[in-house]
Amino acid sequence: MKIIVTKDYAEMSKKAYELIRDVMLAKPNCILGLATGSTPIGLYDNLIAGVKNNEITFKNVKTVNLDEYVNLPRAHKESYFSFMHEKLFNKVDILEENINLPFGAFGDMNKNCDEYNELLGKMRQDIQVLGIGGNGHIGFNEPNTSFKSVTHIVDLTENTRKDNARFFENDVDNVPTQAITMGIQNIMDAKCVIILISGAGKAAAAKAMIEGACDPICPASALQNHKNVIVVIDEAAATLLNKKNLNN
Ligand code: PGA
Repeated sequence: MKIIVTKDYAEMSKKAYELIRDVMLAKPNCILGLATGSTPIGLYDNLIAGVKNNEITFKNVKTVNLDEYVNLPRAHKESYFSFMHEKLFNKVDILEENINLPFGAFGDMNKNCDEYNELLGKMRQDIQVLGIGGNGHIGFNEPNTSFKSVTHIVDLTENTRKDNARFFENDVDNVPTQAITMGIQNIMDAKCVIILISGAGKAAAAKAMIEGACDPICPASALQNHKNVIVVIDEAAATLLNKKNLNN
């Protein structure tokens, strides 16, 4: 793993932008794997600015996203489809037909998973952006998910639903009970993975991912076996890391 420690969130977002920009410039029709959550928003702001400045274009870029809620209409403001449009897609020159997220709005969810998995088989990510959960999850792959997992349905834990209630009129009953997520194997199939980690609340998860056992108890530790992983981590999240592992 290559580990880049940045001063703060803004510098982490800028560094992540530069890495993705370089992929987009080297391969204008690249496939970007994208993530929701608060962590990548600064990166998305930088991507929007990069398009405005004519530094990059999404004209021929295709995207695949990690996950989506089950039984939530795409038009719902809290769907990940809406999140990605609001935070990035509506503000850059991407073609709608080049945007891909798991489909959780309705239908046979097992079939929706299979179809997404098939799509990922044809669309290997040139670079996959990840955040990490405080418990080491990546996408909705919670602790003890098999490293061999592919796109699947996840039952959201009571804790996750309580955490997310603030986005659903503060009523846990409004929070979806399931999600569809890329599996860990789908993430490992990406040619390059960039994982963004910010804030003291993520310090223990970062340590487990980088220095702990490679074990499903910390889903992100699967990345120890990936040949091309770049960790972009701010100082607050890097406090527990062994200094000798920091190569910048
Ligand atoms: P966050 O979520 O970016 O909102 O902290 C990350 C994650 O849970 O994957």
